[in-house]
Parts: sequence; structure tokens; C-alpha cells
Amino acid sequence: MTTSLTYLVTGGAGFIGSHLTDALLAQGHTVVVLDDLSTGDRGNLAAAWPDPRLRFVRGSVLDARLVDELTARCDAVVHLAAAVGVRRVVEQPLRSFATNVRGTEHVIEAAHRHGRRLLLASTAEIYGKNSAGPVAETADRILGQTTVARWSYATAKAVDEILALGHHREHGLPVTVARLFNTVGPRQSAANGMVLPRLAAQAVAGQPLTVYGDGTQRRCFTYVTDVVDALLRLLAHPGADGEVFNVGSAEETTIADLAGLLVERSGSASPLRFVPYEEVYADGHGFEDAARRVPDTRKLRELTGWTPRADLLDIVDAALLDAGGGTPGPVTAPSASPAVPARV
Ligand SMILES: NC(=O)c1ccc[n+]([C@@H]2O[C@H](COP(=O)([O-])OP(=O)(O)OC[C@H]3O[C@@H](n4cnc5c(N)ncnc54)[C@H](O)[C@@H]3O)[C@@H](O)[C@H]2O)c1
Repeated sequence: MTTSLTYLVTGGAGFIGSHLTDALLAQGHTVVVLDDLSTGDRGNLAAAWPDPRLRFVRGSVLDARLVDELTARCDAVVHLAAAVGVRRVVEQPLRSFATNVRGTEHVIEAAHRHGRRLLLASTAEIYGKNSAGPVAETADRILGQTTVARWSYATAKAVDEILALGHHREHGLPVTVARLFNTVGPRQSAANGMVLPRLAAQAVAGQPLTVYGDGTQRRCFTYVTDVVDALLRLLAHPGADGEVFNVGSAEETTIADLAGLLVERSGSASPLRFVPYEEVYADGHGFEDAARRVPDTRKLRELTGWTPRADLLDIVDAALLDAGGGTPGPVTAPSASPAVPARV
């Protein structure tokens, strides 16, 4: 039987955070969401809102006292709040860096002070330009110049990981780092430059699908309920303490092929329009891309048994439905996460 716990979910009004909140409430837990609504939205919590076990606090992880107070009242913390999206990081480098480093430091220190279990969301950006194929957690990080704003996000998340793992080694903080690869699904905003919702919206609207660069960059997309399932499994597993895990599907596609699939599945007549990176980001030097991003998730699978359920076709069809379109084929709606016993 599952013990009912109280979770603090920072960034809980965001895309992944709101799905995690729904799943934790469904398991009978209480959830305190801390979110400044900078990219999140109360509407993401619409299904959870009537639940008396949800408490929403509008505030920032940059407010150390607030983070401390909320952490003291919870059993475990999932830290998802961050300045995200390539566009946002390129356009607001200082604010993004402060949120992603100082905010996380507050969360880690509060978890340490109060002896709370912590799950920290990191990112595949950590690997930078390492395009060597399925990257394991031990793969090298290959980052570009500090003048390229994108790498500041990767660097901030690396600092977060170092702080978290340092607290584990020196103070025994029960912390797990989840390196998330491209996660997609309902409630993901197209506003911060996320590729799938943007291309899906263009396909549904019959507009040209704008593919950045030459479209040969390879990515893997993971459906959000699969990511939430992985996070729940990691929270529940004692072997996850002090460890780093890749979380993502290994089904690869080029962005041009993804755009083609969206056109095909939506029945759209939209052409693809290839846009040079220099035209996408106004300052011309704030952007650099990774040629290939594919995770090796053996470590996660061996510890928790996790495998993603939704494949690329499910994901594309779901994105088109979410963008207001239909699809010619049968849609296998990716299913919700199974219940996983909780642990602190
Ligand atoms: N979506 C992905 O593909 C992906 C990939 C890798 C890593 N991640 C990580 O997962 C986490 C969640 O990302 P997401 O995709 O759900 O993005 P999101 O923008 O939907 O969620 C981030 C949430 O954090 C909130 N937030 C931002 N700054 C805050 C602050 N100072 N105080 C409190 N709340 C703040 C935002 O309002 C938002 O609700 C992030 O840490 C991100 O780095 C996401």
C-alpha cells in the first residue's frame, strides 16, 4: 500500500510539473506547487485545482526563505522550476542563469537543512555538442564558447548537478538527478521555441513548417507521461540516491523527417521552409545546435524497469490533436503512468 506523502514540486504549474502534480495527486499524495508563473500557467493545473490536497504558492525559488518554509512542511521535493527554452535563455542570459543556479542552490540547501529527499531535473543539454550516438551518463560534455548563450543553460544545469552530488557525498543528501531529453505532450508551450508544438501548430494552420538549419539534426522525443513515470520510479527507488539518470526515448528522427511526418499525418499541404540559424536568433551569435541527441537509458531501465510506452507516431498524432488538428490514422493515446509506491 502507498504511504501518503507531501511533495513540494517547484515549477509545478509548468508543462512537466503539472503532469507530475496530477500523477502524485492520483497516487493519493499531497502536493505543494511553488511556481512564479513566468512560463507556467495556472490553467495547467485545471484538473488538479479542485483537489483539496493541492496547494498552489505563487512565488520564486529565488526567495530562499519561502523555499525553506515550504521544504520544512514537505516530505520530499521535486525541483523542476527553471528558466527553460533556447529562445528564453538566448534572450535573457543573466536572469536565466541566476534562476537556474541560485534558485537551485536554495532548493538543495533547504532539502539538506530539513533532511528531505530531492529529485532534481537536469537536461540532455549537459552533453552539449557530444553527438557520438547514444550517450550514457558517463559521456563527456562538449560545450562551445561562453559567448554562445545556449551553453550557459547547460553550464547552469551542470553547476546544479555538481551542487546536488556534492551535497550527497559530503552530507548524505538523498538526491537524484534526472537528465531529461526532449519531452513533449499536452500543455507544452510553443512560446519558448519548443520544436514539436511549433511545427504541429504550423501544420494544422496550413502554414509552412519552419525547420531551423538544414533539418538533419537528430532528436528523440519522449511523451510526458513516460517522463513522469520515470520520475516516479526514481523517487520510489532507494538505489537512485546520489545517482544521475538519463530519461528519454531512444527513437531517433531528423527534424526534417519529423516535419514531414507532421505534414503527412495532418493531411496538410504545408511545405517545409528551412531557416538558417542566423535568421532565427536576432543577435546572430547566440545560437549553436547539437547534431545528434540520443540517450542511453540502460541505467534507468536496469534500476527501475522503465521503458517508454509512446512511440514517435503516437507523439506526432498527440501533438497534432493538441494543436487542434486531426490525424488520418488511429490515435493510440499514450497512457497514464502506473502507480508507483512512494518513498522518502
Ligand atoms: N521539456 C523538456 O523537454 C525538458 C528537457 C530537459 C530538461 N527539462 C527540465 O525540466 C524542468 C521543467 O521544464 P518544462 O519543460 O516543464 O518547462 P516549463 O517552463 O513548462 O516549466 C518550468 C516551470 O518553472 C517555473 N519557474 C521558472 N522560474 C521560476 C522561479 N524562479 N521560481 C518558481 N518557478 C519558476 C515556470 O513558471 C514554469 O512553470 C526544467 O527544469 C527543465 O530544465 C525539460
